[in-house]
Amino acid sequence: MSNSDFIVIKAEEDGVHVIGLTRGTDTKFHHSEKLDAGEVMIAQFTEHTSAMKIRGLASIHTTNGTVQSDSKKQ
Ligand code: TRP
Repeated sequence: MSNSDFIVIKAEEDGVHVIGLTRGTDTKFHHSEKLDAGEVMIAQFTEHTSAMKIRGLASIHTTNGTVQSDSKKQ
Protein backbone atom coordinates (compact mmCIF):
# COMPACT_ATOMS: atom_id res chain seq x y z
CA MET A 1 0.00 0.00 0.00
CA SER A 2 1.44 3.32 -0.96
CA ASN A 3 0.30 6.79 -1.71
CA SER A 4 2.08 8.91 -4.27
CA ASP A 5 1.31 12.17 -2.49
CA PHE A 6 4.20 13.76 -0.68
CA ILE A 7 4.07 15.63 2.59
CA VAL A 8 6.52 18.51 2.81
CA ILE A 9 7.59 19.58 6.28
CA LYS A 10 9.69 22.70 6.72
CA ALA A 11 11.14 23.30 10.18
CA GLU A 12 10.74 26.88 11.39
CA GLU A 13 12.88 26.35 14.51
CA ASP A 14 15.65 24.04 15.61
CA GLY A 15 14.74 20.64 17.00
CA VAL A 16 11.50 19.93 15.12
CA HIS A 17 10.66 16.23 15.20
CA VAL A 18 8.87 14.33 12.47
CA ILE A 19 7.65 11.08 13.97
CA GLY A 20 6.36 8.20 11.87
CA LEU A 21 3.65 5.96 13.32
CA THR A 22 3.08 2.39 12.23
CA ARG A 23 0.18 1.11 10.18
CA GLY A 24 -1.90 -1.78 11.51
CA THR A 25 -3.49 -2.75 14.80
CA ASP A 26 -0.63 -1.33 16.82
CA THR A 27 0.03 2.36 16.35
CA LYS A 28 3.55 2.97 17.53
CA PHE A 29 6.39 5.35 16.87
CA HIS A 30 8.84 3.74 14.45
CA HIS A 31 10.98 6.62 13.31
CA SER A 32 11.86 10.06 14.57
CA GLU A 33 13.69 12.56 12.40
CA LYS A 34 15.05 15.78 13.86
CA LEU A 35 15.07 18.88 11.67
CA ASP A 36 16.77 22.19 12.37
CA ALA A 37 15.43 25.58 11.23
CA GLY A 38 15.13 25.78 7.47
CA GLU A 39 15.49 22.06 6.91
CA VAL A 40 12.87 20.35 4.82
CA MET A 41 11.69 16.75 4.92
CA ILE A 42 9.65 15.28 2.09
CA ALA A 43 7.81 12.10 3.06
CA GLN A 44 5.03 9.76 2.02
CA PHE A 45 2.58 7.51 3.78
CA THR A 46 3.61 3.92 3.11
CA GLU A 47 2.67 0.36 4.00
CA HIS A 48 4.67 0.92 7.20
CA THR A 49 3.62 4.49 7.99
CA SER A 50 -0.01 5.47 8.52
CA ALA A 51 0.42 8.70 10.42
CA MET A 52 2.97 11.35 11.22
CA LYS A 53 3.31 13.50 14.26
CA ILE A 54 5.12 16.81 14.01
CA ARG A 55 6.49 18.31 17.20
CA GLY A 56 7.74 21.90 17.13
CA LEU A 57 7.26 24.93 14.90
CA ALA A 58 6.93 23.87 11.29
CA SER A 59 4.92 24.42 8.16
CA ILE A 60 3.37 21.29 6.74
CA HIS A 61 2.28 21.22 3.13
CA THR A 62 -0.13 18.53 1.90
CA THR A 63 -2.59 18.08 -0.91
CA ASN A 64 -5.25 19.00 1.68
CA GLY A 65 -3.61 22.33 2.32
CA THR A 66 -0.97 23.89 4.51
CA VAL A 67 -0.95 23.98 8.26
CA GLN A 68 1.42 25.47 10.78
CA SER A 69 2.31 23.55 13.90
CA ASP A 70 3.13 25.56 16.99
CA SER A 71 6.16 25.62 19.21
CA LYS A 72 6.19 24.54 22.82
CA LYS A 73 9.22 26.77 23.44
CA GLN A 74 8.61 30.31 24.63
N1 TRP B 1 10.71 3.21 6.57
C1 TRP B 1 9.62 4.17 6.62
C2 TRP B 1 8.50 3.70 5.69
O1 TRP B 1 8.79 3.19 4.62
C3 TRP B 1 10.15 5.52 6.20
C4 TRP B 1 9.12 6.60 6.21
C5 TRP B 1 8.22 6.85 5.21
C6 TRP B 1 8.85 7.56 7.24
N2 TRP B 1 7.42 7.91 5.53
C7 TRP B 1 7.77 8.37 6.76
C8 TRP B 1 9.41 7.85 8.49
C9 TRP B 1 7.27 9.42 7.55
C10 TRP B 1 8.89 8.88 9.25
C11 TRP B 1 7.83 9.67 8.78
O2 TRP B 1 7.34 3.84 6.04
